[in-house]
Amino acid sequence: MEQICFELENVEMNYLDKEILKIDRLAVHQFDRIGIVGKNGAGKSTLLKLLAGTIQPSQGKVNRHVDFGCFEQVEAPNADEADPKLLGKLHVEQQREGLSGGEQTRLKLAQLFTHYYECLLIDEPTTHLDQEGISYLLDELRYYYGALVLISHDRAVLDELVTSIWEIDDGKINVYAGNYSEYIAQKQLEREQQSQAHEQYLKEKSRLEKAADEKMKTAEKIAKASSMSKKESKAKANRMFETKSKGTGQKALQRAAKAIEHRIEKLHAVDAIQEERPIVFHQSSRLELHNKFPIMADRITVRIEEKVLLEDVSFQITLGKKIAVTGSNGSGKSTLFHYIVDRGNGLTISPKAKIGVFQQMSYHFVTDETVLQFLKNRSSYDEGFLRSVLHSMRFVGTALQKKVRSLSGGEAIRLQLCKLFLGDYNILLLDEPTNFLDIQAIQALENFIKSYKGTILFISHDKQFIANVADEEFQILNKKLIQK
Ligand SMILES: Nc1ncnc2c1ncn2[C@@H]1O[C@H](COP(=O)(O)OP(=O)(O)OP(=O)(O)O)[C@@H](O)[C@H]1O
Ligand SMILES: [Mg+2]
Repeated sequence: MEQICFELENVEMNYLDKEILKIDRLAVHQFDRIGIVGKNGAGKSTLLKLLAGTIQPSQGKVNRHVDFGCFEQVEAPNADEADPKLLGKLHVEQQREGLSGGEQTRLKLAQLFTHYYECLLIDEPTTHLDQEGISYLLDELRYYYGALVLISHDRAVLDELVTSIWEIDDGKINVYAGNYSEYIAQKQLEREQQSQAHEQYLKEKSRLEKAADEKMKTAEKIAKASSMSKKESKAKANRMFETKSKGTGQKALQRAAKAIEHRIEKLHAVDAIQEERPIVFHQSSRLELHNKFPIMADRITVRIEEKVLLEDVSFQITLGKKIAVTGSNGSGKSTLFHYIVDRGNGLTISPKAKIGVFQQMSYHFVTDETVLQFLKNRSSYDEGFLRSVLHSMRFVGTALQKKVRSLSGGEAIRLQLCKLFLGDYNILLLDEPTNFLDIQAIQALENFIKSYKGTILFISHDKQFIANVADEEFQILNKKLIQK
């Protein structure tokens, strides 16, 4: 029997009276490779923190039997030393100021892999990582000797690394054998079976209802016939016997109809598949802009201190286009965005341009506001409208009163995007807007970008997302901006 690493017993976790998790018993064994999946806010990070002991359950017990390493979703790197060899391999320096998003992730990974642990608890390790970074992660974990518990929205990563899936749905954890693709296939099968069973149920119900109905109708007919015959009873006294038998026939029919109704009640009801309300990002009034090239760069050089990131680069951004900016970690994508926002040297930006920005790290909230206050304080719309906007982003009920600081990664990103999209802009700069987003939220964002009338520049490492929305792609490579 393999050793148990973690064990959850009768665990309940509540926030603001809402039950986030309820687990009778679950265990992580020695060589388990578990992928935790679920929608944004489902409770994945909460579960990982419960295992790690960084938070305590509202009820129940978590037993820990091994030494483990932890990679947390939104934490900046701490001061832990990392193996210089690993740092070199990942092209990152220990504790330099102002590490890029991807470099921070690389540093956290180097810290994690510096020591051997019997178990690793890892939450969204591919955040900000370029392809090379992801390959490194996969190499480290593919042959890792120990128990792995991994949260990721990246299906390719899950497919490579895990052999079972814990799905969090409505506070419950459902365990599936296999990797992510196998899990999806099983879910598909479950859906098909449920929908078949539901149809079967409806058919059977209506068949029984009809039968009961017919029996009742026949009973009524007999009743009518018998009252007729009563009127004639004097004339036809000799038919007494027949009337009586009609009366009993009618009762029997009524009883049969009752029995059928009873069977209908006893039928095992199978619910229809719940189609979820799609998430929708609202587009607010957009300011006019007519300049054919609202942003033009003429031989610009972009540097941070003495480090040159872009050298002698010229480009034009065409009105209304959706443009992906790509490049490896630390190549200068975010810095280029800052340069545009600051209207740096060599840039010609249309005077009517109103630029709205989504910052890469904006999931770090610092204020004490609630979700609703956060939007109210940053937009001029009335509360009713904001509530409906939040509703279409799946912030409902008590979620509006949640502190922004306690939002899950995906919820935080959604809220920031919401705020940005309510502003009056005609050019948007989005720095890695898909981080942490679940598939429905990514699709909603894709729809928003495609239908946006203004110009959008966005940074992303997500190939699928780029393919779905970009009209053009600019890649930063060797200090140049290459149009692909
Ligand atoms: N301290 C807290 N107070 C109130 N609510 C909280 C707190 N921490 C988490 N929550 C809520 O609990 C739910 C689960 O959060 P969790 O971070 O576990 O989600 P997640 O599955 O990791 O989501 P994501 O995919 O976005 O990272 C969310 O709705 C979140 O807003
Ligand atoms: Mg999370």
